[in-house]
Amino acid sequence: MHSVELLPSILSADFAHLADEVAAAERGGGTTIHVDIMDGHFVPNITIGPPVVKSLRKATKLPLDCHLMIENPNDFIAAFADAGANWVSVHYEACTHLHRSLELIIHHGMKPGVVINPATRVDLLIDILPMVHHVLVMSVNPGFGGQEFIPFSLKKIARLAELREELGLTFKIEVDGGVAHDTVAQVVKAGAELLVAGNAVFGAGHAEKDARALLDAAREAWREIY
Ligand code: DX5
Ligand code: ZN
Repeated sequence: MHSVELLPSILSADFAHLADEVAAAERGGGTTIHVDIMDGHFVPNITIGPPVVKSLRKATKLPLDCHLMIENPNDFIAAFADAGANWVSVHYEACTHLHRSLELIIHHGMKPGVVINPATRVDLLIDILPMVHHVLVMSVNPGFGGQEFIPFSLKKIARLAELREELGLTFKIEVDGGVAHDTVAQVVKAGAELLVAGNAVFGAGHAEKDARALLDAAREAWREIY
């Protein structure tokens, strides 16, 4: 029996104290660390790259979920593997040859994920769903933490859950953007099980307490439906 999991997104953490922030989020119940990689081209913001992933790898035993918001992701997949990434997801919108990108991630021994922006239809993914470990539904336009959840993302999560059932697949459904106290129950009830949260975990400077409270709310919603 699986359940919901919290993936703290370090985008909203204090980068000068990253190891402490990650440790606090782990004590609060985070089970995988979500790492946002931005290049200033695919999204209008720049964050971090393989060197920081390499340092994080030494600071935690939790899996590192690297969300690549970059152009030409294939050029960097080997570097993220070397840095110690465990999961790597690429954007449907950034990959001309998505199948090849996913194969490359698998070839480097990592778990492949595909991400869709709010304006991208879930059904476009049907043919590659059998090869992914997770599908990440963006519930904000990628680039920044602390944005407002886009409500129609719930329909996309539900559609993915329906497709998974229809096709007899086992990929996980991950949601990213605006997941917080006021939205988490709806997100869980729509069918997501991997919950990325940045601002709601790190925004107030109490990562352990805030992670735990968010996870408790998510589990409560989960129990109501399963
Ligand atoms: C946004 C990133 C998210 C971000 C979510 O482009 O992909 O992972 O950290 O932040 P919140 O949870 O604050 O919306
Ligand atoms: Zn992300």
